[in-house]
Amino acid sequence: MKEIILNHPLIEHKISILRRKDTSTKEFRELISELAMFLCYEALRDAKLETIEVETPIASTKGYVLNEDNYAFVPILRAGMGMVDGVLRVMPNAKIGHIGLYRNEETLEPVEYYCKLPKNIENKTVIILDPMLATGGSGSEAISMIKKRGVKKIKFLSIICAPEGIERIEKDHPDVEIYSAYRDSHLNDNGYIVPGLGDAGDRIFGTK
Ligand code: PRP
Ligand code: URA
Repeated sequence: MKEIILNHPLIEHKISILRRKDTSTKEFRELISELAMFLCYEALRDAKLETIEVETPIASTKGYVLNEDNYAFVPILRAGMGMVDGVLRVMPNAKIGHIGLYRNEETLEPVEYYCKLPKNIENKTVIILDPMLATGGSGSEAISMIKKRGVKKIKFLSIICAPEGIERIEKDHPDVEIYSAYRDSHLNDNGYIVPGLGDAGDRIFGTK
């Protein structure tokens, strides 16, 4: 498995504002979206390009295009929705699927409630979006659901991950690449990432 942590002063700066408990809902949403854009940029580093001919005002030259139809983004509801407009700023024509999972607060096990994926998904690289990778239960379940549809190449984008979540995905799905803006210390007894940022879904949607 490959784990890629964005290591950049700008990311540290934005993550620190995101963590603050008095950051407004508006600013929190904007930061999640921007960080998703940076993660997507990094995740596309190995993208295959097609060669085309380009006419500049001065001369003709070789150009390169990325076929956006080869990609699908799949946010895990709800919090993953906060990352969608950031990744669409980078790849506006990519298809979007949705997976609905929530974590049972007592058992911390993921509970599935929705799954709608684009057609021909088996031929695409699927990029899963979820800001928090905590125990890894939700992420691992989402990856299994997508693999059942015949998808071969999956990447997972999270804003903050815990070592426990990385270990879980590594064990269950060693073929999946995980991109994170920050790797935190550990989980607390309630399965929250420490220091983390609290409940990402509640902070994006202002539900608490
Ligand atoms: C959060 C988060 C992940 C999950 C991570 O969602 O967005 O999906 O918890 O935890 P895990 O790695 O231990 O599974 P939550 O269940 O709170 O649902 P929500 O997005 O609807 O708020
Ligand atoms: N889900 C969240 O939203 N935050 C955490 O810290 C863990 C799971």
